[in-house]
Amino acid sequence: MKAITVSFTLNGKPTALAVEPLTTLRTALREHLHFHATKAGCGQGGCGSCTVLVNGEPTLSCLLPVALVEGQDVTTLEGIGTPAHLHPLQQAFFDHFAAQCGYCSSGMILAAKALLDRNPQPTRAEIAEALSGNLCRCTGYRPILEAVEDAAQQMEGAKS
Ligand code: FES
Ligand code: FES
Repeated sequence: MKAITVSFTLNGKPTALAVEPLTTLRTALREHLHFHATKAGCGQGGCGSCTVLVNGEPTLSCLLPVALVEGQDVTTLEGIGTPAHLHPLQQAFFDHFAAQCGYCSSGMILAAKALLDRNPQPTRAEIAEALSGNLCRCTGYRPILEAVEDAAQQMEGAKS
């Protein structure tokens, strides 16, 4: 099949790549662009480990043909913080032991970021609802909910 060229913004930088037309965004990120924070879980839309932000909205990259992000704004975990300057959500996941194997963490953090961007002070129920598509087999979820609550408080405090 003839390759197509797709151009989009990835973590704030213009990006273009030539791929087979039905290549998923997840494959493009991991195998073509070598952004491995986005995890390759079920590949069927059931686990949330591949979640990225497309125009700020949580999106399952395993289900989305990369051609559909032409001209769009894509954010992966690599785009929100660095080891030297963690995003408050990354720091809170560390502080609350909310990442064990870490397989769910990238998707969880990006889904949480989308929530806090639109609702800076969510209730625990709202956090649970926002993360309901992201499965974690390790933590029992409570540390994750506490981490998001903590990050929300930190981010609100940083505004004042
Ligand atoms: S890998 Fe995309 S939802 Fe599981
Ligand atoms: S920390 Fe292992 S799946 Fe969530």
